[in-house]
Amino acid sequence: MELYHQSVLLEEAIQALQVQPGGRYIDCTVGAGGHSSAIMESSDPGGQLIGFDADPQSILAAQFALKKYGRSVLLVNENFNCIEEVCTYYNFRPVHGVMFDLGMSSLQLSSHGRGFSFQHDAPLDMRFSPDQELTAAQIINDLSESELATLIWNYGEERKSRKIAKRIIENRPLRTTKELARVVSKAVNGERGKIHPATKTFQALRMAVNREIDNLRTALEQAVNLLGFGGRLAVISFHSLEDRQVKEFMVRESKSCICPPETPVCTCKHTPRLRLVSKGVIKPTAEEISINPRSRSAKMRVVERIQ
Ligand SMILES: C[S@@+](CC[C@H](N)C(=O)[O-])C[C@H]1O[C@@H](n2cnc3c(N)ncnc32)[C@H](O)[C@@H]1O
Repeated sequence: MELYHQSVLLEEAIQALQVQPGGRYIDCTVGAGGHSSAIMESSDPGGQLIGFDADPQSILAAQFALKKYGRSVLLVNENFNCIEEVCTYYNFRPVHGVMFDLGMSSLQLSSHGRGFSFQHDAPLDMRFSPDQELTAAQIINDLSESELATLIWNYGEERKSRKIAKRIIENRPLRTTKELARVVSKAVNGERGKIHPATKTFQALRMAVNREIDNLRTALEQAVNLLGFGGRLAVISFHSLEDRQVKEFMVRESKSCICPPETPVCTCKHTPRLRLVSKGVIKPTAEEISINPRSRSAKMRVVERIQ
């Protein structure tokens, strides 16, 4: 198992958040603690951070990585869809910055037995948290053919989603990652380009199991509520659906009118709460991609809370 996760867009994120000494920060996806450590370094002296992760194993890794910051760091093994409730409970608001680095870590991908990777044979699980009920096996074995095809198309952006769904139905029940990878490979006729033929299907399943799009929607709203004026929100995503959701949320919250375009006179009385800091997205440099190929699809968007 890989014990190391290389953080993506690390320096760019610290700059984007304008991390300052004595600042208060929330890391919604603490993972192995890479971004949190950098935030703590840059907010010294006096910086404080609450880090969330739904995965207890990631929390353990982060505890180890962030040990030296003692009581300045609080790690919470919860889904980030409840950041507002938890931060309010700890009287940790308003904050200077909120960070999201979405998806899964290298630790999770290489963790045997959790079903995130087709490289290791394991039960089809893919849950970030053992408290969640839904597993990848349930999705694979219970959904109808058209539901599976839609899921693989939407979350995996897989062109051959229908063929894959058909093969899955023909070969059910499927219990393990290797069984699924074999069925998907057959459906798309073996290897395809640089990525394994099952990559997109596995991504789709992980996103569905962990309700990643729904949780992000809920959490973005809460993150803005927690920011003090001038506070920054930075979101790194790896999937076009996630990036679109982040973009639409940020653009909407930075507009003074959100009436439908055909409305002749504004009736919404919408008040912008955010200012777009970066036009477009911030992407990793060619150098970062060459060192860490996993970073190639990363996109970061940044906004600032306004009065
Ligand atoms: C890409 S990793 C973060 C890596 C981290 N930024 C670092 O530098 O080490 C994403 C982490 O977010 C966690 N995660 C994903 N969705 C979550 C959610 N809805 N609530 C809490 N944690 C979540 C995953 O368990 C994973 O550990």
